[in-house]
Amino acid sequence: MSNNLLSGKKGVIFGALDEQSIAWKVAERCVEEGATITLTNAPVALRMGKIKDLGEKLGAEVIAADATSTEDLEKLFTQSQEVLGGKFDFVLHSIGMSLNVRKKREYTDIKYDWMLKTFDISAVSFHKMMQTLWKMDAMNDWGSILALTYIAAQRTFPDYSEMAESKALLESFARSFGYHFGVRNQVRVNTISQSPTMTTAGSGVKGFDEFFGYADKMSPLGNASAGACADYCLTLFSDLTRSVTMQNLYHDGGFSNMGMNPSVLNA
Ligand SMILES: NC(=O)c1ccc[n+]([C@@H]2O[C@H](COP(=O)([O-])OP(=O)(O)OC[C@H]3O[C@@H](n4cnc5c(N)ncnc54)[C@H](O)[C@@H]3O)[C@@H](O)[C@H]2O)c1
Repeated sequence: MSNNLLSGKKGVIFGALDEQSIAWKVAERCVEEGATITLTNAPVALRMGKIKDLGEKLGAEVIAADATSTEDLEKLFTQSQEVLGGKFDFVLHSIGMSLNVRKKREYTDIKYDWMLKTFDISAVSFHKMMQTLWKMDAMNDWGSILALTYIAAQRTFPDYSEMAESKALLESFARSFGYHFGVRNQVRVNTISQSPTMTTAGSGVKGFDEFFGYADKMSPLGNASAGACADYCLTLFSDLTRSVTMQNLYHDGGFSNMGMNPSVLNA
């Protein structure tokens, strides 16, 4: 259902790989709500993923960019402004990847060069994205910048490994850059802390299926779906949330405030 919440707005969506991706759902909903967007992902994802299908479906240009490369980011934002005809009202960072998790290295036996690469892809890319937007003066006043995160930044989830530190860094960048963007452009910067979600990135974590079930039982509303996350993202891109900034916002069916749910004990 469309409420034209993003009518006339322009945005860039990072991280749609396939139909499961949270960014995929966000892109679909943004267009449904009247926005025009460009889609971007790493060159390898353009070759292996389905993002081009999404671009065709939504009439959105797909532009390759490795989010760890400021050169790629500059090209992406230049090209996107040409395609969209002006500055951006919203940008979504929906990027995560851990080399140590992918290669099944235990947290107590981490390879540090992989860890640094993980931080670069999953967190520093958010700073790079914002710094590039800042230097290019590419955000419209009262715009909105958003990244997706996970509660392992605050609490220990052993199998999440170095992604926990990546998310802590990501959330801190939102607060720090949120100050600068707020003062200069009234642009808000927030993170959404999403429930476990069945996606390529999510299911790469060891024991994900069991954990997904546990979180679902623990949360009074159950796990929040990717579609519901897209709806929440829209509210943060819309003009209805203009004073919300520098926040980490839980979108998790209540999980973050639970101590114990009897339905977990009775399972
Ligand atoms: N799935 C979950 O359980 C869950 C829960 C909370 C938060 N999140 C977060 O949501 C975001 C989106 O993940 P998802 O679950 O939709 O999975 P996904 O695998 O669909 O998306 C991750 C994306 O990151 C992109 N990416 C990786 N390296 C990149 C690079 N160098 N440059 C540009 N893009 C790159 C991938 O191509 C992919 O599109 C991530 O930040 C993830 O940590 C996911």
